[in-house]
This record gives sequence, structure tokens and C-alpha cells, in this order.
Amino acid sequence: MKKIILSTVVVVMSATFLSATTNKEIKQEAKAAIMKMGKTLKMHMKQNMKAGGPVQAATFCSDKARGIAKEVNAGYEKGVSVKRISLKYRNPADKPTADEAKVLQELHTAFDTKKSLPKMLVKEVGKNHYKVYKPIFINKGVCLTCHGAGDVRDEKAYKLIKAKYPNDKAIGYKKGDLRGAFVVDIVK
Ligand code: HEC
Repeated sequence: MKKIILSTVVVVMSATFLSATTNKEIKQEAKAAIMKMGKTLKMHMKQNMKAGGPVQAATFCSDKARGIAKEVNAGYEKGVSVKRISLKYRNPADKPTADEAKVLQELHTAFDTKKSLPKMLVKEVGKNHYKVYKPIFINKGVCLTCHGAGDVRDEKAYKLIKAKYPNDKAIGYKKGDLRGAFVVDIVK
């Protein structure tokens, strides 16, 4: 009896150990990819905001951000890609797929009840295929310029945005809100 219990423990432990290692590896890979994307977008946003205020930044986001994201994606190693998604998306290209929407919903529920979220969440979606989620928050006051309620948004910038995205859902946020997530798709 003792022997059986012991061998079961060993098997369970080795399985946990294996998946923890994979988990860690996948998270590290995802983190590096998100850092690259996040940094690039942030740098351009800052430059445009500084050079021409919210209107120029909004023009940049609407016209150029997508191309830059595409360039960054092309620079990743094979099998890795990064995108942003939100249940309240502005760009229809950021609409989550059904499985992604389910995870986002889980994150929103967890955030509403526990007020905190894991830094990253790894989901195995197939054999050697993972999706890693990193929550995005409205972490700066400046986000409200284009994602806040009517009384805090920049009117001119938002006019441009609304013209480009007539079905925009990405407004009415407050500082600290969960906005969506980066999703890193990794095929090993
Ligand atoms: C100058 C206006 C502006 C500011 C400031 C701004 N955004 Fe956006 N944001 C946009 C536009 C326009 C899009 C859609 C274009 C695109 O896909 O990049 C967008 C898209 C997004 C998306 C992708 C999901 C979607 O809805 O399409 C996320 C996530 C996001 N913004 C988060 C933020 C956060 C967090 C901040 C503050 C750090 C911020 N934004 C500041 C204009 C802005």
C-alpha cells in the first residue's frame, strides 16, 4: 500500500514539475515579446503626444499603430505573434475570438471580485500551442484622453477617432479599469 502511494506521489510530482517548467519558459518568451511591442507603441505614442498633442497622437494611433505592430510582429521568431484584445474594442481587428473572449470574461470577473489579477495567464490551446494573456489596465491619466467618458476625453481627438471607428466601444473607462489584454500566440 505504502509503495503504491509513494509511486503515485512521484508521478504527480514529476507531472507538476514538467508543466511548471514549460509554464515558466512560455511566460518568459511571452514577456519578452510583449515588452518589445509595448515599448515600441509607447515610444511612438509619447513622441506624437509631445509633438502635436492628443489630435496628432490620435491620428497616429488610427493610421500608423497597426503598421508598426505588424513590423514588430515580423521581427519575432517563427511561431510567435502578439496582439491586443478587449471586450470593449475600438479597432474591430482587436475583437477577441470566442476562446479569448471567455478568458477575458474570466479576468474581468476575477478583477471585479478580487481586485487583483495574475501578471500573466498561460492557456494551452492545442498540442505545443499556447496563448499567453497579460492584462492591460487604464494605468495612466492620459489614457482617458481617448478612452474616458465624455467629460474627460479630448473632444477634437475623439472626433477623429470616432470618424475612423464608428462602432467604437472603448470609452467610458476610469483610471485603474481593466482595459483588455495582450495575447501572445506561441506555437512551439
Ligand atoms: C491619443 C489617443 C489615445 C490614447 C491617449 C490612448 N489610446 Fe488606446 N487606442 C487609441 C486608438 C485610436 C486605438 C485603436 C487603434 C489601434 O488599434 O491601435 C486604441 C486602441 C487601444 C487598445 C487595443 C484594443 C482596442 O480597443 O482596439 C488598447 C488595449 C488600448 N488602446 C489601451 C490604451 C491604454 C492603456 C492607454 C493609456 C496608456 C491608451 N490606450 C491611450 C487611442 C488612444
